[in-house]
Amino acid sequence: MGKRTAIVGATGAVGTTMLSILEQRDFPISELRMLASSRSAGRVIATKWGEVTVEDLATADPSGIEIALFSAGGGRSKEYAPKFAAAGAVVIDNSSAFRMDDNVPLVVAQVNDHAVAEHHGIIANPNCTTMVVIMAAGPLHRAAGLKSMTATSYQSVSGTGQTGMDVLTHEIDVLGKDHELLAKGGWTEPGSDVYSRPIGFNVLAHAGGFTDQGYTDEEWKLVNETRKILEAPDIKVEPFCVRVPVMVGHGIAATMFFDRPVSLDEANEILGSAPGTQLWDDSKVPTPLDSAGIDDVIIGRVRPTVGDPGGISLWTVGDNLRKGAALNAVQLAELV
Ligand code: A2P
Repeated sequence: MGKRTAIVGATGAVGTTMLSILEQRDFPISELRMLASSRSAGRVIATKWGEVTVEDLATADPSGIEIALFSAGGGRSKEYAPKFAAAGAVVIDNSSAFRMDDNVPLVVAQVNDHAVAEHHGIIANPNCTTMVVIMAAGPLHRAAGLKSMTATSYQSVSGTGQTGMDVLTHEIDVLGKDHELLAKGGWTEPGSDVYSRPIGFNVLAHAGGFTDQGYTDEEWKLVNETRKILEAPDIKVEPFCVRVPVMVGHGIAATMFFDRPVSLDEANEILGSAPGTQLWDDSKVPTPLDSAGIDDVIIGRVRPTVGDPGGISLWTVGDNLRKGAALNAVQLAELV
């Protein structure tokens, strides 16, 4: 039987991906509602379930909604998700608002599905970077007990939403006209204010805003969410989140140590059968472009540690809008 389903933040980068994934997976929907800000209210969106007029979240009545997929930013989630849950919906929230709440399960589909059953109306979708690395770390943890993980992310601009993609397109256009100056110096500031420095033809050694101890909020999410999802509060996570001029697809280079040594053969065997992933050998190193638009997270460059033997280093890439956000949210809705 179809569910009365709502997408909150339906006009955004993740919201539009949610719609296409619901359509592709033939999610059973009896009525679809789409909500966004007053700026988008009244817009008509064509969907598999007919034309849907976007409603203003601020004035919409959540009664009757059974499943609500939220991706309209943390502020909106904090304010409206409890109201939707109180009205009877199961909210799957893509923001960070409830992820570390003890009453809210934090679930990566195909890694800790069992936690969905513990919800009280809200289920949190993990951060897109955490999600992509956990698809590899989860199965290894189950086999050998993850003790520590050093992870450096290469995060695409779509992690910042549609505005991130617009800024990258603009800056590549503006800075690309002066490509000789990019090598010699003397280029002109492209004048965008989404990131601290230009992202076109550049790398920013921080993603998110700075918080405690010189780490960014994205880095703390990697630490805290990894521990919560794997139900192992003692895992030592050393995060470094970097923004790169990629449209879609987050990459994470990670080195992991376990309660016991893990050989390359064992790691390959585990990762080769990990659900929702593809394992590529060094003949084809996976890139964000390979991951964009597909459901699987791709794992590559698997190798044994050399500095301190017994661990495993690897590289994972995943579509941050799909597995990193919208796909996982829909998978959680399917579990519900
Ligand atoms: P809108 O398009 O009307 O601004 P993205 O992550 O790509 O930036 O998308 C953010 C999503 O959250 C969009 O759908 C956006 O709607 C929605 N949104 C942003 N601010 C609000 C708000 N105050 N109330 C409801 N929805 C909002």
